[in-house]
Amino acid sequence: MIPEHERYVIRGGKEGYGRLLVLARKCWPDTFALFQRAGVTAGMRCLDLGCGGGAVTLEMARMVAPGGNVVGIDMDEVKLELARQAAAKRHLANVEFRKMNVNDWNELGAYDAIYSRFLLQHLSRPIELLRRMWAGVRPGGLLMVEDADFEGWCCDPPNDAFDFFVRSYNEVVRRNGGDPTLGRRLHRYFLEAGIPDSHLAVVQSVSVEGEAKTLPWSTLKFSSEAIVAAHLASPAELSVALATLEKFTNDPTTLVSGPRNFQVWSRRKST
Ligand SMILES: C[S@@+](CC[C@H](N)C(=O)[O-])C[C@H]1O[C@@H](n2cnc3c(N)ncnc32)[C@H](O)[C@@H]1O
Repeated sequence: MIPEHERYVIRGGKEGYGRLLVLARKCWPDTFALFQRAGVTAGMRCLDLGCGGGAVTLEMARMVAPGGNVVGIDMDEVKLELARQAAAKRHLANVEFRKMNVNDWNELGAYDAIYSRFLLQHLSRPIELLRRMWAGVRPGGLLMVEDADFEGWCCDPPNDAFDFFVRSYNEVVRRNGGDPTLGRRLHRYFLEAGIPDSHLAVVQSVSVEGEAKTLPWSTLKFSSEAIVAAHLASPAELSVALATLEKFTNDPTTLVSGPRNFQVWSRRKST
Protein backbone atom coordinates (compact mmCIF):
# COMPACT_ATOMS: atom_id res chain seq x y z
CA MET A 1 0.00 0.00 0.00
CA ILE A 2 1.27 3.47 -0.91
CA PRO A 3 1.30 5.95 2.03
CA GLU A 4 -1.02 8.94 1.41
CA HIS A 5 1.45 11.73 2.23
CA GLU A 6 4.51 10.26 0.52
CA ARG A 7 5.57 12.09 -2.65
CA TYR A 8 8.84 12.18 -4.58
CA VAL A 9 9.81 15.87 -4.72
CA ILE A 10 12.34 15.99 -7.60
CA ARG A 11 11.19 16.48 -11.19
CA GLY A 12 11.25 13.15 -13.05
CA GLY A 13 11.06 12.33 -16.75
CA LYS A 14 13.73 13.25 -19.28
CA GLU A 15 15.04 16.23 -17.30
CA GLY A 16 15.21 14.16 -14.13
CA TYR A 17 17.10 11.50 -16.09
CA GLY A 18 19.72 14.06 -17.19
CA ARG A 19 20.27 15.23 -13.61
CA LEU A 20 20.60 11.65 -12.38
CA LEU A 21 23.30 10.97 -15.02
CA VAL A 22 25.38 13.83 -13.59
CA LEU A 23 24.81 12.46 -10.08
CA ALA A 24 25.72 8.95 -11.25
CA ARG A 25 29.01 10.05 -12.86
CA LYS A 26 29.96 11.81 -9.63
CA CYS A 27 29.00 8.91 -7.36
CA TRP A 28 30.18 5.92 -9.40
CA PRO A 29 33.74 5.65 -7.97
CA ASP A 30 32.32 5.43 -4.42
CA THR A 31 29.52 3.05 -5.40
CA PHE A 32 32.01 0.85 -7.30
CA ALA A 33 34.26 0.78 -4.21
CA LEU A 34 31.23 -0.30 -2.13
CA PHE A 35 30.39 -3.11 -4.58
CA GLN A 36 33.98 -4.34 -4.51
CA ARG A 37 34.22 -4.20 -0.71
CA ALA A 38 30.85 -5.92 -0.23
CA GLY A 39 31.69 -8.61 -2.80
CA VAL A 40 29.57 -8.14 -5.94
CA THR A 41 30.84 -10.78 -8.38
CA ALA A 42 30.03 -12.46 -11.70
CA GLY A 43 27.02 -14.78 -11.71
CA MET A 44 24.94 -12.86 -9.15
CA ARG A 45 21.23 -12.15 -9.62
CA CYS A 46 20.78 -8.52 -8.48
CA LEU A 47 18.08 -5.95 -7.80
CA ASP A 48 18.42 -2.14 -7.86
CA LEU A 49 15.42 -0.57 -6.09
CA GLY A 50 14.54 3.03 -7.04
CA CYS A 51 17.00 2.68 -9.91
CA GLY A 52 16.06 5.99 -11.58
CA GLY A 53 17.78 6.23 -14.97
CA GLY A 54 19.52 2.91 -14.35
CA ALA A 55 23.12 4.17 -14.35
CA VAL A 56 24.11 1.88 -11.47
CA THR A 57 21.87 -0.94 -12.73
CA LEU A 58 23.81 -1.01 -16.01
CA GLU A 59 27.21 -0.96 -14.26
CA MET A 60 26.04 -3.80 -12.03
CA ALA A 61 24.94 -5.76 -15.11
CA ARG A 62 28.47 -5.41 -16.47
CA MET A 63 30.01 -6.49 -13.14
CA VAL A 64 27.88 -9.65 -12.74
CA ALA A 65 28.38 -10.88 -16.31
CA PRO A 66 28.81 -13.62 -17.33
CA GLY A 67 26.01 -15.58 -15.78
CA GLY A 68 24.47 -12.84 -13.62
CA ASN A 69 21.63 -10.42 -14.25
CA VAL A 70 20.04 -7.30 -12.78
CA VAL A 71 16.48 -6.04 -12.34
CA GLY A 72 15.97 -2.27 -11.92
CA ILE A 73 12.72 -1.05 -10.35
CA ASP A 74 11.42 2.52 -10.35
CA MET A 75 8.03 4.24 -10.58
CA ASP A 76 9.11 6.65 -13.36
CA GLU A 77 8.39 4.99 -16.72
CA VAL A 78 10.09 7.77 -18.72
CA LYS A 79 13.41 7.24 -16.94
CA LEU A 80 13.00 3.46 -17.22
CA GLU A 81 12.46 3.67 -21.00
CA LEU A 82 15.62 5.81 -21.35
CA ALA A 83 17.44 3.22 -19.23
CA ARG A 84 16.23 0.41 -21.53
CA GLN A 85 17.53 2.36 -24.54
CA ALA A 86 20.91 2.85 -22.83
CA ALA A 87 21.06 -0.91 -22.10
CA ALA A 88 20.33 -1.72 -25.76
CA LYS A 89 23.01 0.75 -26.92
CA ARG A 90 25.56 -1.00 -24.68
CA HIS A 91 24.38 -4.46 -25.85
CA LEU A 92 23.56 -5.43 -22.26
CA ALA A 93 21.07 -8.30 -22.45
CA ASN A 94 21.25 -9.26 -18.76
CA VAL A 95 19.26 -6.30 -17.44
CA GLU A 96 15.53 -5.71 -17.09
CA PHE A 97 13.67 -2.57 -15.98
CA ARG A 98 10.27 -2.81 -14.28
CA LYS A 99 7.85 -0.02 -13.42
CA MET A 100 6.60 -0.47 -9.87
CA ASN A 101 6.11 1.43 -6.64
CA VAL A 102 8.65 -0.01 -4.17
CA ASN A 103 5.94 0.05 -1.50
CA ASP A 104 4.27 -2.74 -3.49
CA TRP A 105 7.47 -4.74 -4.10
CA ASN A 106 7.91 -8.07 -2.31
CA GLU A 107 10.03 -11.01 -3.52
CA LEU A 108 11.21 -13.52 -0.93
CA GLY A 109 14.75 -14.92 -1.20
CA ALA A 110 14.97 -14.02 -4.88
CA TYR A 111 18.34 -12.21 -5.15
CA ASP A 112 22.05 -12.64 -4.45
CA ALA A 113 22.41 -8.86 -4.08
CA ILE A 114 19.86 -6.12 -3.39
CA TYR A 115 20.96 -2.53 -3.70
CA SER A 116 19.38 0.91 -3.35
CA ARG A 117 20.77 4.45 -3.56
CA PHE A 118 19.10 7.73 -2.55
CA LEU A 119 15.64 6.13 -2.37
CA LEU A 120 14.99 5.53 1.33
CA GLN A 121 15.14 9.24 2.25
CA HIS A 122 12.03 9.78 0.12
CA LEU A 123 9.99 7.07 1.83
CA SER A 124 7.83 7.42 4.93
CA ARG A 125 8.43 3.79 6.05
CA PRO A 126 12.09 3.09 5.26
CA ILE A 127 12.56 0.41 7.94
CA GLU A 128 9.63 -1.53 6.59
CA LEU A 129 11.25 -1.54 3.12
CA LEU A 130 14.62 -2.57 4.64
CA ARG A 131 12.88 -5.58 6.22
CA ARG A 132 11.46 -6.62 2.84
CA MET A 133 14.83 -6.04 1.15
CA TRP A 134 16.55 -8.31 3.69
CA ALA A 135 13.85 -10.96 3.18
CA GLY A 136 14.54 -10.69 -0.57
CA VAL A 137 18.22 -11.67 -0.12
CA ARG A 138 19.13 -15.36 -0.47
CA PRO A 139 21.37 -17.09 2.10
CA GLY A 140 24.93 -15.91 1.44
CA GLY A 141 23.65 -12.83 -0.43
CA LEU A 142 24.18 -9.10 0.03
CA LEU A 143 22.12 -6.07 1.00
CA MET A 144 23.78 -2.72 0.14
CA VAL A 145 22.21 0.70 0.71
CA GLU A 146 23.53 4.21 0.13
CA ASP A 147 21.71 7.28 1.36
CA ALA A 148 22.45 10.90 2.06
CA ASP A 149 22.41 13.22 5.03
CA PHE A 150 21.41 16.55 3.51
CA GLU A 151 22.44 18.51 6.58
CA GLY A 152 25.99 17.63 5.54
CA TRP A 153 26.14 20.06 2.58
CA CYS A 154 28.54 23.00 2.83
CA CYS A 155 29.96 25.72 0.64
CA ASP A 156 32.69 28.33 0.76
CA PRO A 157 32.43 31.29 1.01
CA PRO A 158 29.03 31.44 2.77
CA ASN A 159 26.18 32.04 0.34
CA ASP A 160 22.53 32.87 1.10
CA ALA A 161 21.20 31.08 -2.00
CA PHE A 162 23.12 27.91 -1.07
CA ASP A 163 21.64 28.08 2.45
CA PHE A 164 18.19 28.65 0.90
CA PHE A 165 18.69 25.48 -1.18
CA VAL A 166 19.66 23.33 1.81
CA ARG A 167 16.88 24.73 4.02
CA SER A 168 14.04 24.55 1.48
CA TYR A 169 15.03 21.19 -0.01
CA ASN A 170 15.29 19.56 3.43
CA GLU A 171 11.92 20.99 4.46
CA VAL A 172 10.12 19.97 1.27
CA VAL A 173 11.38 16.38 1.62
CA ARG A 174 10.09 16.33 5.22
CA ARG A 175 6.70 17.75 4.23
CA ASN A 176 6.35 15.00 1.62
CA GLY A 177 6.89 12.17 4.07
CA GLY A 178 10.68 11.70 3.70
CA ASP A 179 13.74 12.30 5.87
CA PRO A 180 16.62 14.27 4.25
CA THR A 181 18.96 13.23 7.08
CA LEU A 182 18.19 9.51 6.76
CA GLY A 183 21.80 8.64 5.89
CA ARG A 184 22.99 9.07 9.49
CA ARG A 185 20.19 6.76 10.70
CA LEU A 186 20.82 3.99 8.17
CA HIS A 187 23.06 1.85 10.41
CA ARG A 188 20.50 1.99 13.23
CA TYR A 189 17.66 1.27 10.79
CA PHE A 190 19.48 -1.89 9.68
CA LEU A 191 19.51 -2.99 13.34
CA GLU A 192 15.82 -2.09 13.78
CA ALA A 193 14.97 -4.07 10.63
CA GLY A 194 16.71 -7.12 12.15
CA ILE A 195 19.69 -7.01 9.76
CA PRO A 196 22.82 -8.17 11.63
CA ASP A 197 26.57 -7.67 11.09
CA SER A 198 26.35 -4.51 9.00
CA HIS A 199 29.36 -2.53 7.81
CA LEU A 200 29.48 1.23 7.48
CA ALA A 201 31.34 3.83 5.42
CA VAL A 202 30.84 7.55 4.79
CA VAL A 203 31.82 9.45 1.65
CA GLN A 204 31.56 13.11 0.74
CA SER A 205 32.53 14.95 -2.42
CA VAL A 206 33.66 18.54 -2.92
CA SER A 207 33.81 20.45 -6.21
CA VAL A 208 35.32 23.71 -7.35
CA GLU A 209 34.49 23.15 -11.03
CA GLY A 210 32.77 20.72 -13.40
CA GLU A 211 29.29 19.25 -13.72
CA ALA A 212 29.13 17.82 -10.17
CA LYS A 213 29.32 21.38 -8.84
CA THR A 214 25.97 22.17 -10.54
CA LEU A 215 24.04 19.57 -8.49
CA PRO A 216 22.86 21.90 -5.68
CA TRP A 217 21.56 24.31 -8.35
CA SER A 218 19.85 21.57 -10.43
CA THR A 219 18.40 19.92 -7.31
CA LEU A 220 16.86 23.25 -6.25
CA LYS A 221 15.58 23.87 -9.79
CA PHE A 222 14.06 20.39 -10.10
CA SER A 223 12.38 20.52 -6.70
CA SER A 224 11.05 24.05 -7.22
CA GLU A 225 7.51 22.87 -8.13
CA ALA A 226 7.30 20.93 -4.84
CA ILE A 227 8.78 23.87 -2.87
CA VAL A 228 6.17 26.27 -4.27
CA ALA A 229 3.36 23.71 -3.77
CA ALA A 230 4.40 23.41 -0.09
CA HIS A 231 4.32 27.26 0.23
CA LEU A 232 7.96 27.29 1.32
CA ALA A 233 8.86 30.01 -1.20
CA SER A 234 7.22 32.01 -3.97
CA PRO A 235 8.17 31.50 -7.63
CA ALA A 236 9.84 34.96 -7.51
CA GLU A 237 11.97 34.02 -4.47
CA LEU A 238 12.95 30.79 -6.17
CA SER A 239 14.05 32.47 -9.37
CA VAL A 240 16.24 34.95 -7.42
CA ALA A 241 17.79 32.06 -5.42
CA LEU A 242 18.39 30.02 -8.58
CA ALA A 243 20.08 32.93 -10.37
CA THR A 244 22.29 33.67 -7.34
CA LEU A 245 23.19 30.01 -6.90
CA GLU A 246 24.02 29.64 -10.61
CA LYS A 247 26.39 32.61 -10.41
CA PHE A 248 28.01 31.18 -7.28
CA THR A 249 28.38 27.78 -9.00
CA ASN A 250 30.04 29.31 -12.07
CA ASP A 251 32.57 31.24 -9.96
CA PRO A 252 35.85 29.24 -10.02
CA THR A 253 36.89 30.61 -6.61
CA THR A 254 33.91 29.00 -4.80
CA LEU A 255 33.58 25.47 -3.40
CA VAL A 256 30.49 23.33 -2.90
CA SER A 257 30.29 19.94 -1.25
CA GLY A 258 27.88 17.12 -1.84
CA PRO A 259 25.85 15.78 1.09
CA ARG A 260 27.37 13.24 3.49
CA ASN A 261 26.63 9.86 1.93
CA PHE A 262 26.36 6.80 4.12
CA GLN A 263 26.99 3.30 2.75
CA VAL A 264 25.71 0.40 4.85
CA TRP A 265 25.87 -3.24 3.84
CA SER A 266 25.49 -6.73 5.24
CA ARG A 267 25.90 -10.31 4.00
CA ARG A 268 23.27 -12.87 4.97
CA LYS A 269 24.76 -16.01 6.53
CA SER A 270 24.85 -19.06 4.24
CA THR A 271 22.70 -21.85 5.61
C1 LIG B 1 17.25 10.38 -6.11
S1 LIG B 1 16.68 9.23 -7.29
C2 LIG B 1 17.99 8.01 -7.26
C3 LIG B 1 18.03 7.13 -8.48
C4 LIG B 1 19.16 6.11 -8.52
N1 LIG B 1 19.06 5.17 -7.43
C5 LIG B 1 20.50 6.79 -8.49
O1 LIG B 1 21.18 6.74 -7.48
O2 LIG B 1 20.87 7.40 -9.52
C6 LIG B 1 15.36 8.40 -6.47
C7 LIG B 1 14.55 7.51 -7.41
O3 LIG B 1 13.60 6.80 -6.64
C8 LIG B 1 12.38 6.75 -7.36
N2 LIG B 1 11.32 6.59 -6.39
C9 LIG B 1 10.97 7.43 -5.37
N3 LIG B 1 9.97 6.89 -4.67
C10 LIG B 1 9.67 5.70 -5.25
C11 LIG B 1 8.71 4.69 -5.00
N4 LIG B 1 7.87 4.79 -3.96
N5 LIG B 1 8.68 3.60 -5.80
C12 LIG B 1 9.54 3.48 -6.85
N6 LIG B 1 10.46 4.41 -7.15
C13 LIG B 1 10.52 5.51 -6.36
C14 LIG B 1 12.31 8.05 -8.14
O4 LIG B 1 11.47 7.93 -9.27
C15 LIG B 1 13.78 8.26 -8.48
O5 LIG B 1 14.07 7.73 -9.75
